[in-house]
Amino acid sequence: MVVFIPEEAERVWGIETSIRNLRIQKASLSDVGEMVRWALAYHAKEPEVRKTLSSPLKSLHFTLWLVYNWFKCYNFKAVVSNRMAGYLQLRPKAHDRVSIHIWDIVVHPRLRGKGIGTSLMKFAEKTAQSKHQYLTLGVIESNAPARRLYRKLGYRNLQGSPTCFKITEIPEDLRVSSKVEFKLISGEKAVSCRNRILLDAVESVLGIDERKTFQSVYLSSNLDRKSVQFRIVVSTKEAGYVSIKQKRNVKSVFFVLHPSLWNTDVEIDVTKLLIDRIREGLVGPIKICVVQAYEKSLSAVLSKIECRSERAIGRLGLIKKLSGNRLKST
Ligand SMILES: CC(C)(COP(=O)(O)OP(=O)(O)OC[C@H]1O[C@@H](n2cnc3c(N)ncnc32)[C@H](O)[C@@H]1OP(=O)(O)O)[C@@H](O)C(=O)NCCC(=O)NCCS
Repeated sequence: MVVFIPEEAERVWGIETSIRNLRIQKASLSDVGEMVRWALAYHAKEPEVRKTLSSPLKSLHFTLWLVYNWFKCYNFKAVVSNRMAGYLQLRPKAHDRVSIHIWDIVVHPRLRGKGIGTSLMKFAEKTAQSKHQYLTLGVIESNAPARRLYRKLGYRNLQGSPTCFKITEIPEDLRVSSKVEFKLISGEKAVSCRNRILLDAVESVLGIDERKTFQSVYLSSNLDRKSVQFRIVVSTKEAGYVSIKQKRNVKSVFFVLHPSLWNTDVEIDVTKLLIDRIREGLVGPIKICVVQAYEKSLSAVLSKIECRSERAIGRLGLIKKLSGNRLKST
């Protein structure tokens, strides 16, 4: 592979005008420091991370988290003239041979736009495809260069990643006319309730094939230990799932309603009751997360009940089906 470097990079890197032999090789322990420094530098551009890095204690915690993740990944580096030009981290998932996750991919800022990112991605696909059916990754919606790269290589959004709404103002009157109940559940019952409703939501928007992919790639059996879970029941029928977590001043809610109720008056009632419940003892804002498949419907309801809400920039979950693997297709 040949990569052409502009003069500026030539000066900084002290290398010849054209780079031959871009090599991708396993990273070693001696690369951890540099990889973590690069990760800190580019994450610092994300608003949430910038806030974190402004506190020395949180910044240390974040750095240690990056180091911890280094040990959880297969780490590779792109080398040009004996220097690291980029890196790639692939993270296997526990008990999951179906997919492997691209944890991070970074190219040195002065060497971007020259094909190194593409080479690293193709390397990831080649490495993964003997054992896995899918490659997955997460990307912030506002990261245009990375999204273009992934789109170009055939990655698509599975619509399973959560989208977050921040509720900033709630009207006083949230009266409900249908018979809606929130029943506390936990453990396996909570997992299967969540999975049933989530899968129906994904299938109703995207079809049976997406349901299968979503099921094999994304559904975990873990519940957040700090959250409480409810089954939503309307006139004795299971209608949805919600988990609620209070984290410092923020109430964080994951909510999904059965698709048969989307765009109905019942959906409005369920959402009203949900918001009414979670505003009890409220100190900070409410964050409601829903899967992208359900995002459109919820956003319409929030405007109908005159809740002031903002949609936060989200993290998209992208996926690509690999060819040439030996596993049976899902
Ligand atoms: C994303 C990243 C790895 C791409 O690496 P790269 O070496 O620049 O990528 P390539 O040169 O192979 O470019 C591949 C494609 O990406 C897109 N791309 C690259 N730079 C871009 C830019 N500045 N603006 C828009 N699209 C861009 C283009 O579609 C390009 O293909 P094209 O030139 O045929 O149009 C690199 O920009 C990077 O390190 N970014 C910071 C870290 C990061 O955001 N990682 C992704 C985390 S999800």
